Amino acid sequence: MNRRQLLQSFSGVAATTILTPELAQAAAQLSQGAASGINWQIAFADLDADLARAPMKRIHGRAPEGLAGSLYRNGPGKFHRPGGSVDHWFDGDGLMRAFRVSDGAATLEARFIDTPKRRVETAANAVVQPGFGTAGKPGAQVRNADDTNAGNISVMSMGGELWALWEAGSPIAMDPKDLSTKGIKTLREDLVHMPYLAHPRRDPGGDVWSLGLSGSQAIVWRVSAEGALKGADMVKLPMASYVHDFTATKRHLILILQPWVQDRMVMPYSDSFTWRPEMGTKVLVLDKADLTKRRIYELPAFFAFHYGSAWEETDGTLRFDGCLTGDSRFATANGKAFMKGTYVPEPASILTLVTLRPDGRVTLEPTGVTAEFPRVDGRRSGDTRRYTIHATATAPNTPLFHGVATYDWKSGKSDTYDFGATHLMEEAVFVARPGGSDELDGWLMAPSVNIKAKATELHVFDARRVAAGPICTWRSEHLLPVSLHGVFVKA
Ligand SMILES: [Fe+2]
Repeated sequence: MNRRQLLQSFSGVAATTILTPELAQAAAQLSQGAASGINWQIAFADLDADLARAPMKRIHGRAPEGLAGSLYRNGPGKFHRPGGSVDHWFDGDGLMRAFRVSDGAATLEARFIDTPKRRVETAANAVVQPGFGTAGKPGAQVRNADDTNAGNISVMSMGGELWALWEAGSPIAMDPKDLSTKGIKTLREDLVHMPYLAHPRRDPGGDVWSLGLSGSQAIVWRVSAEGALKGADMVKLPMASYVHDFTATKRHLILILQPWVQDRMVMPYSDSFTWRPEMGTKVLVLDKADLTKRRIYELPAFFAFHYGSAWEETDGTLRFDGCLTGDSRFATANGKAFMKGTYVPEPASILTLVTLRPDGRVTLEPTGVTAEFPRVDGRRSGDTRRYTIHATATAPNTPLFHGVATYDWKSGKSDTYDFGATHLMEEAVFVARPGGSDELDGWLMAPSVNIKAKATELHVFDARRVAAGPICTWRSEHLLPVSLHGVFVKA
């Protein structure tokens, strides 16, 4: 596939679709809110305008000595417009949040990412651009993939900028000081608008690897710590799978190709995929030093959005963990249900260890622990490690997670704190304690949406004593919609 074909595959627009009536959405919201008794829908409500920097109130404990910097978090923040709304949670406008901590105090601000999509839809007063789970409407303006780029999944710190990341278009550069949008990041002129996944893998202290997916082809991006392109190579994949995340050891890239397979190109994008468990899951291992050196492992069918970092043992055995489910239903069913104010109970994603042995044998070892948003102590990225940090704890009739945990792969024990169903917990990010070097010597920073208080909170945990509860909590006067992924940048 050449570059033109790759671009075309990301820029198709289906002109026709059926709008979900706003009134039906409102009615569904009312009925579901009553069913759970917890008005979790407020965590998926629109933020109508940027939020200027404002102090948060410390409501518990005190900030640990040495914790200073900014937690940037991205996620969809606006879903409804008078002339038509998104059909899927993943299609809301990207909203960058900044929790800034210094001298024991915290502030919160949020600013929408100034994307071509948001400009078109603001002018139209309606959601018209196609997306992951939202079809294009009359008035859509799509010349390339970045015209549909919501920039709403994650964020990384790169060469003094923030890069807001989506997955089917370019990174979007932002100023970390005021969250203003600088614009689409073009890594090389002939690669403009090429896809760049939202979950890059960083070699400790070194290069950043990412992928861009198009059917059974992927571009492998290699970027220096300063943001300069060092490589962009096409690789052929054994399956045209949906890929949201991948993993890596020091020496290898590990692409997990699940059997949610693209068998057509239509909009919305998620309608291009079919769940085909009979195909199983394939894992493609690439040598970072020579991308033509590859190995494919065959695994049973599973679905996952996210993986922890991988490591290699002395005999060549590769291990990584993921949050695995039996099928792809979250990607389609609940992402749409949330926008209607409803929730379809679904099997939990389970933290599972995947082992790939040099002789080709594979094993999947589920821990039984409910988990999503896996993170690690970044100093161990790509290296042998003992712990995984993750969101956990679910409740009937409410979506997402209510607690945070670490899992110890050596002892098989969890260290968990559960806020209960009135908090929707966001991904926890590890921050190393200055001067420390042991794994998990530091803090977990995790916001939550406090449903009862109708407020966004920021919690700090001792990463080695999670069950003891937060050592500090700040509360904002405002409620921001629940976010997806973040990064901490030290002051
Ligand atoms: Fe993600």
